[in-house]
Amino acid sequence: MTTHTTRIAVFCSGSGSNFKALFQAIENKQLPAEIVLCLSNRARCGAMEFAEQNGIATVHITEQQFGFFDEFAEAMVERLKKHHIDIILLAGYMRKVPDAVVAAFPERMLNIHPALLPKFGGEGMYGIHVHTAVLGAGETETGATVHFVNEEYDKGEILLQRTVPVLPDDTPETLAARVLECEHRLYPDALEKLLTLPGS
Ligand code: GRF
Repeated sequence: MTTHTTRIAVFCSGSGSNFKALFQAIENKQLPAEIVLCLSNRARCGAMEFAEQNGIATVHITEQQFGFFDEFAEAMVERLKKHHIDIILLAGYMRKVPDAVVAAFPERMLNIHPALLPKFGGEGMYGIHVHTAVLGAGETETGATVHFVNEEYDKGEILLQRTVPVLPDDTPETLAARVLECEHRLYPDALEKLLTLPGS
């Protein structure tokens, strides 16, 4: 039996709490996977600091470092190949992933979104805006979604979803905190599911 350890790159732009939850869960659940790379458009952020503290390689890459968008996309693919990445997990990555990168990882890239897609997804639906929209629509429940990434924002096939109640006195902030807590359990579960899919 071959015991291949799946090599994961996590893409982040912020605090990286999902990244940290994934890192911890891989150890706790003893998943046959390892986060070997943190890629970010920000040189300094919580996620990049956590990676450095835990001996995980980091790549800081932005469009502005390149003359043309295609060069940026090619460089991103090249960095991922250099680290022999099998799977990409987007965890609060605030940039659209270039189509060339998506094409290089078919069915091998996941994103987590803080709502029950297809509701409250698409352009402009990120961070606190999502929870403000959920409250504005008078929803009684919301949740989190892990989905495959394709060329369209928040439109890839859903892998796993979990609901979270909306409480009468919620503010966007209290709702965001409850959803984030759900995300920290959902993303590792989705990763586990991905690793058991045929072909993994
Ligand atoms: C999460 O709410 C996630 O759903 C969204 O961005 C946020 C990232 O938070 N895509 P963190 O950096 O993992 O704390």
